[in-house]
This record gives sequence, structure tokens and C-alpha cells, in this order.
Amino acid sequence: MEQVTLGLIGGGTVGGGVFQALQRNGALLSSRTGSTFHVAKVVVRTLEKPRPVPIPARLLSTNWRSVVEDPTISLVVELMGGTTTARQVIRRALELGKPVVTANKALLSAHGEELFALALKHRTNLYYEASVAGGIPIIKVLRESLIGNRITHLYGILNGTCNYILTRMKLEGLEFQDVLDEAQRLGYAEADPSLDIDGHDAAHKAGILASLAHGFWIRPEQIATSGIRGITRMDIQFAGQLGYTIKLLAKVKQIEPGAGAKARCRVQVSVSPTLIPNDHVLAGVNHVFNAVFVRGDVAGDTLFYGRGAGQDATASAVLSDLADAAVDLRNGLQSRIPPFVSHERNGGVLPLAQAVSPYYVRLSVIDKPGTLAKIAALLGRAKIGISSVIQPEGHVGESVPLILMIHDAPHAAMARALAQIGRLSVVRAPTVMIPVEHF
Ligand code: NAP
Ligand code: HSE
Repeated sequence: MEQVTLGLIGGGTVGGGVFQALQRNGALLSSRTGSTFHVAKVVVRTLEKPRPVPIPARLLSTNWRSVVEDPTISLVVELMGGTTTARQVIRRALELGKPVVTANKALLSAHGEELFALALKHRTNLYYEASVAGGIPIIKVLRESLIGNRITHLYGILNGTCNYILTRMKLEGLEFQDVLDEAQRLGYAEADPSLDIDGHDAAHKAGILASLAHGFWIRPEQIATSGIRGITRMDIQFAGQLGYTIKLLAKVKQIEPGAGAKARCRVQVSVSPTLIPNDHVLAGVNHVFNAVFVRGDVAGDTLFYGRGAGQDATASAVLSDLADAAVDLRNGLQSRIPPFVSHERNGGVLPLAQAVSPYYVRLSVIDKPGTLAKIAALLGRAKIGISSVIQPEGHVGESVPLILMIHDAPHAAMARALAQIGRLSVVRAPTVMIPVEHF
């Protein structure tokens, strides 16, 4: 059997998980792929450190370059995170013609175009199954299994940390910060958890999926992104009263191209808290689980569900890439299926301002005669229709929440109208506006 000699660059949550999973299932992987997997080195920042998954001291190194450049290392597995040193690691490995496996969605989002081009130039491969949705094999699904479909819609709950927080806030009435601490302790959150809660991690993943589905590179700054920091238990409760659940949802929608041979493929890509009807399957995706709902023009609707973060789920995705890499190495295959930007060079991303959606709006207003009339007048002038209203009973002259459900409206018109409403003297706190998705 051919041996694949691995340099693991990172021995933390995911690196430790891969090391442990190879101890548990390495023989199984070998029997299925026809190659053996040998971890020769594990690069870490600190040698002397208690590790939940023990790694023998003789395997540890702090010198990534010597590991990557070691001629006996045939496959580099980048699990260190970040976008600076990790980029150097991957670049160096690819320049040496070595295949690389990575779970680093932040890096792919920022520099993927450059790294995939480098892999192509040096006739090697860059594998990234673990970069999106943890244990769900969604990259392989989009690259291979659904290759014969145009992907008209893709919706994803793509951040395990946010889903864990929102679920526990809803089911147990907990506060945001307490649940975030727990998500960090469980190894779900990024080293910098603002990447999770401000929506950037989900946007990195949405960009990877959107680029893969639509065949042209979608940059992170083209993705309208908002996170869950502003979501309160009050919003979760009002949404529940109205029959909805709030999730951090990534949306990738193909907008019908106009007529003509040169019609451009145009897509809308966004990540934001979203109200999902309780009877939709995505509303029941709870805790650290992720799900990706894909609508293809041939297959129709398909749904992929699994743990979106954490040691074992992510290690499983890395093992899948190790297997692919071993088979490709043995057969001398390069770019078996083009990794990314391939079939649509003429695509474009539509700005959020042009998106049309129903909305949930929560205002904090003074309970006095004429308040609702003033707000309704400003919305009416902007041609924005209200579909329902909730105002819990309060005391005249005091602040109360006022919930408005809004019919389909353009994002730009909503933003303008809410800015005007926010200037009314009866409005006492910043307004919350959350899109509603009916799939
Ligand atoms: P982690 O627990 O912080 O582990 C990072 C590892 O890299 C540690 O072993 C650390 O060494 C090492 N390291 C970091 N910087 C280094 C440097 N400059 N030189 C040498 N070693 C360095 O992170 P993680 O959660 O495993 O995440 C790793 C990657 O997987 C990230 O790209 C992340 O986004 C991605 N990912 C994570 C998950 C998840 O659930 N955690 C899921 C999917 C993808 P020390 O051990 O000495 O500190
Ligand atoms: N921090 C990420 C999450 C890890 O919570 O989803 C998995 O990519």
C-alpha cells in the first residue's frame, strides 16, 4: 500500500480531532482508499501545553516551514486558522507541488482565488471540505453530486456558534453572553468569536458555496452581512408569537437573467438573522447543527443536515479530503473537477438595496394617541404595506415595543422609511429590522 505522509499544521480543536480520528479509523480509511496515512509532524505554537487530545512530544514542532519543506511530507493539512501565516503555509506547500487540505474558510474567502490559481499552476490540489458546515459534505455535493443542476436557490444555517446561541436563547430563555461562553468552551467558536456572532464566518462560507454553485468568484465584501448581536430575547419571543423562528441564514439566490445571448448570471448573496416559518424544515435545525437547503433546476429541493462545528464533525470532513487526496496522489490526478471558478466568467452580484423581502420590524415607541398613525403614514408614503401589528398592552406615556410585519418591500425603501421613522419624537430606541423568508 502506498503511504501518504502528513504534516498537520495545527494541533488544536480540529488538528487534535484529526489526529484522534486517524488513530480510531486510520485502518478503515486505508482499507477503503488503498493508502496508509502516517502523521509525521504536528505544528503548534506552544510545545509545552496540556492538550485535550495528547500528541506525542516527538511529533510536535513549532517550525511550519521545516515541516512543509520536508521532502518526506507528501500532504500538508493546514488547521491553524488565521489569514497570515496560514496563507504562507499553503502557498509554500502548493509552490512545492504538494497537495493541501484546509478547513480555513476565512483564508479561502479572502485569498481563495489566488490559492486555487496557485494550485492549478503547480499542478496540484487544494481540498476544503471542512471549510463549510462542519461534518456535512456540502462541498462534494455542489462540486460533484449536483454538477448537472443550475442552483437557483441555496439557503444555509452555516454557523454552529450562532445557531447554538439562538437555540438556547429561544428554548431556555438564556442571555446571549452566557451561551457564547459555553459555545467557546465547547470548541465551536472561532479564536475571535466576533467572526461568528457578527456574521463574517457565515459570510465566508456563503461566499465559498455561492462561488462554487455559480462558477464565478464572489468576494466577501459583495456579501451583505449582519450578525446576531442585536437579536434580543424579546425578538425571539415576538417572532414565536407570529409563527416564526429566528436563524442566522445565508441566502444565495439566482436572479433570472434577462433575454439575450450575453445575459449575465446574477446572484444575490446575503447573511442575516431571518424569520423562518415554524413549519419550514430549517426552523427545526437547532443547537450546533447546520443545514444547507439547495434547490436545483433538475433535482428540485435537497437538504443536507449535520453538526456544523466541533472537533469530531470537522475531523470527519478533513478525513474525506485526506481520502480524496490519497486517491488523487496515487493516480496523479490534478483538478479532477475544476475547484471553483470555471463555468461562469460573466457573473455579477446584485446589491442588497435591490433585494425585495417581507420584514419584521420592532420599534420602541411612546404609547400615546397618534403614534401608530404617524408611523403608518411614513410607511404608506414609501408605498410599504403593513401586514400585521402587535403592541403589547402598556401604560399611556410609557415606552412599548411595536411590532410591524411588512409585506414585500425593497430593502432600500425600507431603510429610508425606517430612518425617517427613527427621527420621530415618539420613537425611543434604535429600530430592529429583520427579513422574513418564505422559501
Ligand atoms: P485552534 O483550536 O485554535 O487550533 C489552532 C492550532 O494551530 C493550535 O494547535 C495552535 O497551536 C496552532 N497554531 C496557531 N497559530 C500558529 C502559529 N503561528 N504557528 C504554529 N502553530 C500555530 O483552532 P481550531 O478550532 O482547531 O480551528 C482551526 C481551523 O479550522 C480554523 O481555520 C477554523 O476556522 C477551522 N474550523 C474550525 C472548526 C471548529 O469547530 N473549531 C470547524 C471548521 C473549521 P497551540 O495548540 O500551541 O495553540
Ligand atoms: N466557528 C465556526 C462555527 C466553526 O461556529 O460554525 C465551524 O466552521
